[in-house]
Amino acid sequence: MIIQPRTRGFICLTSHPEGCAENVQQQIDYIKSKGIIKNGPKNVLIIGASTGFGLASRIATAFGSNAATIGVFFEKPATEGRPGTAGWYNSAAFEKEAHLAGLYAKSINGDAFSDEIKKQTIELIKKDLGQIDLVIYSLASPRRTHPKTGVAYSSVLKPIGEPFTNKTVDFHTGVVSDITIDPIKSQDDIDNTIAVMGGEDWKFWIEDLKQAGVLANGVKTVAYSYIGPELTYPIYRNGTIGMAKNDLENTVPIINDILKNLDGISYISVNKALVTQSSSAIPVVPLYISLLYKVMKQKGIHEGCIEQMQRLFQDRIYSDNVLLDNKGRIRVDDWEMRDDVQAEVAELWNNVTSENIMDISDLEGYRKDFFNLFGFEFDNIDYDKDTNELIEIESIK
Ligand code: NAI
Ligand code: NA
Repeated sequence: MIIQPRTRGFICLTSHPEGCAENVQQQIDYIKSKGIIKNGPKNVLIIGASTGFGLASRIATAFGSNAATIGVFFEKPATEGRPGTAGWYNSAAFEKEAHLAGLYAKSINGDAFSDEIKKQTIELIKKDLGQIDLVIYSLASPRRTHPKTGVAYSSVLKPIGEPFTNKTVDFHTGVVSDITIDPIKSQDDIDNTIAVMGGEDWKFWIEDLKQAGVLANGVKTVAYSYIGPELTYPIYRNGTIGMAKNDLENTVPIINDILKNLDGISYISVNKALVTQSSSAIPVVPLYISLLYKVMKQKGIHEGCIEQMQRLFQDRIYSDNVLLDNKGRIRVDDWEMRDDVQAEVAELWNNVTSENIMDISDLEGYRKDFFNLFGFEFDNIDYDKDTNELIEIESIK
């Protein structure tokens, strides 16, 4: 079928299989250009492996460390008249390239929050790999059904206390306007968001994997967090999602305890703000990212997911000396948070309007990255041409 982008707000309803493959290939090429990660991981489980930071983590460990990878995700293949999701096509392309390179790669498509998918994953590890030495936890989801109680939780993106008013942009039109987001009405909003995006499921995974004996001695695990600038604190770090991130970060000592007799360790990596399916859903944040991109590109320190994950594994987790902040976290948002970067972004933030946004921000880069997520706007792909949407993931056939 001929596949063109169809958007509804911050969602793109279509994905292009060849474009997604191009996106994956560019990330593979980047990792190969950086050489091998010294003493890197050998058998890696990635939970949330199909898009964003999880996909980049999978590519970085496979092509940067020749690691065998098992990827868990929740994606859809094509159905009559409808292309599959970007994460489906990304994973198909990743497996194909991994297999061509002689690397083990298998995928599990289903609800990672469920006991059933955890069980399936453990069976696959036992059958094929025996044990794993790195577990990457990179889920981003708006809802979670609790595996023990069956209760379905939905997360919310709200401030706590006061209403929050600030600038936001419609990245399709470039219109900058003020948005007011009402605060939570009750503690439930916080509790529900923690239930979805907090640390309980990460802990459940590690408990089950350990119990099954599939974690290698010296196993490492990492989950991803975000802090960002003060101007987004009300909606991010001090809002409901921030409470979930606090909970995720507070899970580190609990997991370290579980991993103690394996000499294992868990980390939080605080990553840079980037265009992903998840971050485009947060008000205010896309405008911040557009200004941040402008400043970081001018300074020659811009990174995408793949550059971030390459640095995370090469320069942090598998380096001789893992640099941590005063709260014990890895910071690959270090360049985003540099004083000179933040000062310039803050000034642009005060000045940005619908009239000057194309000049003082990198909204164009934001838009391109957004469409790239779904396989669109790659120069070397002809989007008027028929393409086969019925792509299979080799290990899921
Ligand atoms: P994403 O939306 O690109 O990736 C989410 C992944 O989770 C996908 O592979 C998806 O298939 C999978 N997933 C969602 N629900 C699932 C379920 N029920 N079962 C199995 N798989 C499921 O998101 P992104 O942005 O890569 O986020 C990953 C982590 O990184 C999150 O913890 C996020 O908060 C964090 N982070 C994101 C930043 C950003 O700017 N995008 C910045 C710093 C941290
Ligand atoms: Na991810």
